Amino acid sequence: MILVTGANGQIGSVLTKTLRGIYGDAQVLATDIRKPETLEGSFEFLDILDKKRLYEVISQYKVTQIYHLAAILSATGELRPKFAWQINMDGLFNVLEAAKELNISKIFAPSSIAVFGNETPRQNTPQHTILHPTSVYGISKAALENWCQYYTKKYNIDIRSLRFPGIISHQSDPGGGTTDYAVDIFHYAVKGQDYECFLRADTRLPMIYMPDAIRATMELMHAPQENISIRTSYNLASMSFTPEEIYSAIQKNIPDFKISYKPDFRQAIADSWTESIDDTFAKNDWGWKSEFNIEDMTLDMIENLKKKNKLKVDHEELGV
Ligand code: SER
Repeated sequence: MILVTGANGQIGSVLTKTLRGIYGDAQVLATDIRKPETLEGSFEFLDILDKKRLYEVISQYKVTQIYHLAAILSATGELRPKFAWQINMDGLFNVLEAAKELNISKIFAPSSIAVFGNETPRQNTPQHTILHPTSVYGISKAALENWCQYYTKKYNIDIRSLRFPGIISHQSDPGGGTTDYAVDIFHYAVKGQDYECFLRADTRLPMIYMPDAIRATMELMHAPQENISIRTSYNLASMSFTPEEIYSAIQKNIPDFKISYKPDFRQAIADSWTESIDDTFAKNDWGWKSEFNIEDMTLDMIENLKKKNKLKVDHEELGV
């Protein structure tokens, strides 16, 4: 049985569906502190800080693999540093200790571009580089990477990780991140509303479209063990763009769309991250190749959000 923590989050909700498609509904247990929108498949309430409950759920469902996605993102982390540290670190420790004590054989625990900092090379950021993150979230992810490597080597648990760029998705919304603007902007554009961006127009950040992020996760998790040379976390590249660039890609499809800029505290977080990523290790070790560029992604996002909005209007008209 596979256990997913944070299964209702941006990645979790899509990944849970994907895992169920691969392994079957009965083999994937979704857990979260919030109830899922639609109750499909097994679900258990689980606060990742509740170690006793985590152990109970693992034993009850005979869990052998964990996708550990429960975490607090960068912007929320700056507003609630101690809370973010607790969730991100104590939560991870509970999962790692459970793996050691209850014979979990495989874990996915994502990291992020937030591990990079002001001293990291900004272009084509190498795999092995200076990690002096400035945000609480980044500090917690840099620590996560080292702990994952430690538990892999010391206790022989097969732990794998990706340094995710900002993830763009229509199926689910992010919450409390610095790259959230790149999802929010589509929602405004499709509803015919103007968008006020909380980052400067020229802030270039690495991003990835959800289908690529999910495929990367599955390809990494299915790669033969002997191919996995990185036990901290793999650099993962797809596209990089600025708010101005994503705005003009959207505007080509929605000509009346307007944007304005009002940078807030998230600008400093974004400025400390890098612009583009060298993912040679992911390419060489497990054949990574991204499929979506900014144009494909923009078209797909707009089409899917329009469908979703139409469905919502139809439901409202029918009163369901
Ligand atoms: N999307 C995340 C954030 O903005 C980065 O991993 O916090």
